[in-house]
Amino acid sequence: MIGRRSLFTATGAAATALSSFFAGRAAEAKSIVKKVAGDVELRGADGRMERLGSLDLESQMDFTAGFREFNNKGISRTAAMRFQQLMKEKGMDPKAIVSFDEMHAIAGSDPIIGMSAKTWLANQQVTWKSLQDYFHANADMYLAEMEAADKDGPGSLTLDANLEIPDYTKHEIHIQPGGYVGDPFAGHMYHYGTNSFYIGAIGHNEQDQIHKGTANNIPMPADGKVKRILEVGCGLGQMSCALKERFPDAEVWATDVGAPMVRYGHMRARDLGIAVNYGQGLAEKTGFPDGHFDITVSYIMHHELPQTATRAVIAEANRVTRTGGVYYPVDFNTGGSTGPAYGMFRRWWDHRWNNEVWSREFHTLNFSDEIAKAGFTLNAKTPAALPGFGARHFVKT
Ligand SMILES: C[S@@+](CC[C@H](N)C(=O)[O-])C[C@H]1O[C@@H](n2cnc3c(N)ncnc32)[C@H](O)[C@@H]1O
Repeated sequence: MIGRRSLFTATGAAATALSSFFAGRAAEAKSIVKKVAGDVELRGADGRMERLGSLDLESQMDFTAGFREFNNKGISRTAAMRFQQLMKEKGMDPKAIVSFDEMHAIAGSDPIIGMSAKTWLANQQVTWKSLQDYFHANADMYLAEMEAADKDGPGSLTLDANLEIPDYTKHEIHIQPGGYVGDPFAGHMYHYGTNSFYIGAIGHNEQDQIHKGTANNIPMPADGKVKRILEVGCGLGQMSCALKERFPDAEVWATDVGAPMVRYGHMRARDLGIAVNYGQGLAEKTGFPDGHFDITVSYIMHHELPQTATRAVIAEANRVTRTGGVYYPVDFNTGGSTGPAYGMFRRWWDHRWNNEVWSREFHTLNFSDEIAKAGFTLNAKTPAALPGFGARHFVKT
């Protein structure tokens, strides 16, 4: 008979998934989140990350993060093998580059590929629903907490009730309920939801490890002067916080179209004692003076924009970055609509079922070329920020 222990050690992926359940708890004793007036912190914090308000929900998130990792590293591999087998059966080279249409015809309605995709999606739905249910069930408490933080410092928060929010930003990207602009707890949900994404795909980010690593690798302007930094599409501003920690004397501005995103981000930065200036605003129309910033960044925003918006955001970045300043927009590598077949399938599927509305469009754009066309010079020698991302170190010339 297979015992529970032997079952869980039976596959490497399952073992990895299990170990990831607990890894985030390692820093538990070392909370660095400050407890301030009006703060709701029901169960303490793991370093930089406040623990969720109930053990039930925390266990749920542990499960969904672990299942995501198991799916990404285990079930998906099986689906990839099945995909190659189907290609062989059709007389195709499994390593062939295929178009979206060909890839779709290959995957068809195969049950193994379908099961991998469906279980991934169900897990994603459970992740969001659990978070949304919790924050809405406790809405008064969490709204009051944000209100208490809005006018508090360090750092500041500016909301713009008259901002015309473009329709393209209103989608429920990666099926997050309400998207970035339509739910008062978008920031809360995004923080805990994406924490699960990181565990399942790249690595742990409870302590902003991924953002810190990226921020710390951004090359300096040649003259070494860094007085002002801008992040657009900042979400919670994890990157902005990391930049403020790297450049404590610089003024750091973090802007996003979503009021709930910057409200939560500001509250979190305040709790961490990090003085970042958060503002609700559009990346394509920031309102800052020409040449105002020494470093301008964005982090995984562009694949969520239509191409017209991406071009407008790049032009605005060029306007507000000073000559000799650094532009460092992190996003996926792009440059064509074709790629290895199973990768193409996952991308199509992510677009269609995970509601990554603009990502297919983004992937057909040569992002680096667009940036160069706007008047930046690429330093291709700088390594990419993360695996799978392009070299994104540009200098305003
Ligand atoms: C995938 S999230 C990335 C958030 C954050 N940079 C991070 O490190 O996780 C994309 C963010 O871009 C914002 N966004 C999308 N379009 C925008 C626009 N035109 N102007 C400003 N923010 C925008 C969204 O509201 C969302 O918070």
